[in-house]
Amino acid sequence: MAAPMCSTGWRRYLLWLAHDHLEFRIPEIQSIALAVGSQMEICDSDYDLKSHPFVELRLPSEEDARKIIGRSFLSRCLLELWGTGQTAEELHQVLRDYPTELSAPYMRQDTSFRYHVAAFGKTLTMRRKRDLIDALDFLPFQGRVDLKNAEHTFYILEDYGDDPTKTPEEPYRTFFGRWIGDGQRKLIDKYSVRKRHFIGETSMDAALSFVMANMAAARRNSVVFDPFVGTGSLLVSSAHFGSYVMGTDIDSHIIHGWGRSTRHNKKWRGEDENIRANLRQYGLEHLYLDVLISDAARSVWRPCQLFDAIVTDPPYGIRESSQRLGTKDNNFVREDDCELHNPTKTAYTLSDLLTDLLNYAAQHLVIHGRLVYWLPVYRPDYSEKILPRHPCLRLVSNCEQVLSTDISRRLICMEKVKEYQESDSAEIVVNPYREHNAIRDKYLLLAKEKKQKQRTREDTHTKTKPSEKPTEES
Ligand SMILES: C[S@@+](CC[C@H](N)C(=O)[O-])C[C@H]1O[C@@H](n2cnc3c(N)ncnc32)[C@H](O)[C@@H]1O
Repeated sequence: MAAPMCSTGWRRYLLWLAHDHLEFRIPEIQSIALAVGSQMEICDSDYDLKSHPFVELRLPSEEDARKIIGRSFLSRCLLELWGTGQTAEELHQVLRDYPTELSAPYMRQDTSFRYHVAAFGKTLTMRRKRDLIDALDFLPFQGRVDLKNAEHTFYILEDYGDDPTKTPEEPYRTFFGRWIGDGQRKLIDKYSVRKRHFIGETSMDAALSFVMANMAAARRNSVVFDPFVGTGSLLVSSAHFGSYVMGTDIDSHIIHGWGRSTRHNKKWRGEDENIRANLRQYGLEHLYLDVLISDAARSVWRPCQLFDAIVTDPPYGIRESSQRLGTKDNNFVREDDCELHNPTKTAYTLSDLLTDLLNYAAQHLVIHGRLVYWLPVYRPDYSEKILPRHPCLRLVSNCEQVLSTDISRRLICMEKVKEYQESDSAEIVVNPYREHNAIRDKYLLLAKEKKQKQRTREDTHTKTKPSEKPTEES
């Protein structure tokens, strides 16, 4: 069994991850450590980190531990790990050996404590919970038991695995630790898009917006930019972590908050439905820099380092078209269009959009700044070669969210690692994004095929039905 402290003096912690967006959980926690300026070691584990809910970490201090769990949207809680064992005897022996100098401050007479018993993969009976607590009678707690406001909470945590068809009688492993803090999942409801002042068809849901802001290491006094800002969900989540925020969108209606409402009980958007009001709703207006009507295909900024992070959800062409200014044959804005709110637009292929986005990030991010964006993928096409690359940007993480059997989107996180030079440019080695609406066409084709199959199934069903019915003669 590993020692409670490693040679550097760091303590062991147990992170209990939420069973949600499994692939995103470890990259989220690694990015948070960076955002709060903490070092962190993820200990080797026998488990598959992508699917398993328990991860052992080593952290330099409890303060760092609190900061990290206090930002996570994909974690349930963090414990200071006192011991773990595959059997009750093994766990009890480890706890007996736990150094007194580490346990004593939490066991003193003038403190209060309580136990919390929980399990992954099984619902425990009250009897089982009581037995687990009783079995720890040998621990020399001197303080008062306080079930409501204890100073120290100790978790007994059993792991029955994630296969509901093979739940074992006894847990695979039991953990014991001191509670440090809970993740921030309770905030997901507060920030829910349903309760948001200004929303649109493609507003990003609150949980993923927070995960994106975490991946971008958004933090106090940094500047975060969204070039496809829409209703500003990513500005809200980044501002929640203290970043100053700004964005652009090609659609003047969305920037001004004009036009038809997407709420079912309202026809037109109200007076104050705009991004600034969204930030105000959460007390974050002081972090609003501005939003501009602008085409992401043509940067309004001189090439200089402006942003600590670019966090964005570009249009894939499925629910909204991807467009840029100009006409089919040339890339220029017509002079007589300059005064219009709605100048001539033309198709913007995903291939151009993605390479523009990476070039933009390479030019405008500070060194170590992050680009976080969604890449739509037709799953049968996927290989690492379709990931857009840039000599100034290093891939940090690439997590898949499956949307249907054949379509997914990947949350890509990149870090700027090199100063931009004019000769540097983005490329996609194997490029499935060249056609306009490349993903939309595949998506629609799949939907059509699915409908066709369903119709055929229904036809076969109705054709066979009459013969099943008894005829008048019979
Ligand atoms: C998927 S939506 C972004 C949604 C946003 N994250 C939110 O939470 O509301 C993509 C946005 O990109 C905008 N857009 C499309 N083409 C653009 C372009 N060339 N330049 C800037 N914005 C563009 C669309 O108007 C749309 O608002």
